[in-house]
Amino acid sequence: MKPIRIGIVGSKFAAAFHTEVWQMLSGAKVVAIAARNPEQRDSFQKKYGIPKAYTLLQELLADPEVDVVDICLPNYLHAETAIKTMEAGKDVICEKPFATTLAEGEKVVEVQKKTGRRFFYAEDWIFAPALLRAEQILKEGGIGKPFYFKGKETHNGSHSPYARTIQYCGGGAMIHLGVHAIGYFYHLLGLPEKVVGLCNGGGQNNYMHTQIEGEDWSAAFLLYKDGTRALVEGNYITRGGMEDVVEVYGSEGRIRVDLTFGSPLSVFSLKGISYAVEKAEFTQGWTKPAIDEYESLGYKRELAHFLACLKGEETQARGTTAEAGFDVLRIIDAIYRSNREERTLVL
Ligand SMILES: NC(=O)c1ccc[n+]([C@@H]2O[C@H](COP(=O)([O-])OP(=O)(O)OC[C@H]3O[C@@H](n4cnc5c(N)ncnc54)[C@H](O)[C@@H]3O)[C@@H](O)[C@H]2O)c1
Repeated sequence: MKPIRIGIVGSKFAAAFHTEVWQMLSGAKVVAIAARNPEQRDSFQKKYGIPKAYTLLQELLADPEVDVVDICLPNYLHAETAIKTMEAGKDVICEKPFATTLAEGEKVVEVQKKTGRRFFYAEDWIFAPALLRAEQILKEGGIGKPFYFKGKETHNGSHSPYARTIQYCGGGAMIHLGVHAIGYFYHLLGLPEKVVGLCNGGGQNNYMHTQIEGEDWSAAFLLYKDGTRALVEGNYITRGGMEDVVEVYGSEGRIRVDLTFGSPLSVFSLKGISYAVEKAEFTQGWTKPAIDEYESLGYKRELAHFLACLKGEETQARGTTAEAGFDVLRIIDAIYRSNREERTLVL
């Protein structure tokens, strides 16, 4: 069977891990990259041995050898790039978040429906092996009736300059980090009925990151029709490495998943090691180094699933459709509005 031919847009952090994962999967081939910065683009092309490199998205979209465009650009470019891609007759894989505004998100859903192209919203938590196992245990009733879910991604601030302004990011820590827990809970539970959000005010009103326009601390309750509740959190005030944690409390048990500090490997080093876990400031003393983040954070199984869907071998997971991406954005928008208006919002 012919491989699925992928065009990557962007040439930094997400572009690198997507390309590395694609190159591990048989049946996929990264055939082209489009990136506006020529030096970055050329060194990326060389490093990964990608046959073609373009500067402009239009050039990539005009290439008949590209089947799917994998969007690894800053948040504010997701919607525009996805729309142009689908209108050019190609399928889309889009990093989180779905878009930065509801109006843009609505347009993406509309164009996806109109063109009938495949759209994959890349929420990697859905495919993290530990969370897949947790989902199985929940489904078999292993902890009885689950009442209360908690999920958070927190660290000490994004490396990307685009995460610092609301215009480029869509908000602060909730849209950039909390989005994962919201996406995973959406996959499990669907759309909440009501939302209560609380966030720092951004800039001078943040706890630590006064140079960030969006909030550096945010939390929200998602309230479901059947009485289930979820607490989601995103913050940039977490020292010592990225925390990705999910907990579920049920009538006959509970589940705790630690995606980033749950490593079975412990190391004590006087001088430190080259890498322990994403966003850790230093690695001296005791650390729990990640063994394979591409696997443990879900990237490998996520892109493998998208590939299998494109080949017609799997049915697309609920939390990865264009509607899902848009619903996650609606929840985030409601969290921000709830915080601004100091009230519970009905979705
Ligand atoms: N799923 C995850 O866990 C995860 C992790 C990291 C990043 N992401 C997502 O991936 C996306 C990219 O993040 P990143 O960390 O790679 O950011 P980055 O800042 O490291 O890279 C952004 C890339 O976009 C390019 N770019 C910027 N503006 C452009 C423009 N106007 N036209 C064309 N190219 C432009 C830059 O040159 C760079 O190559 C973000 O949406 C982020 O939310 C997801």
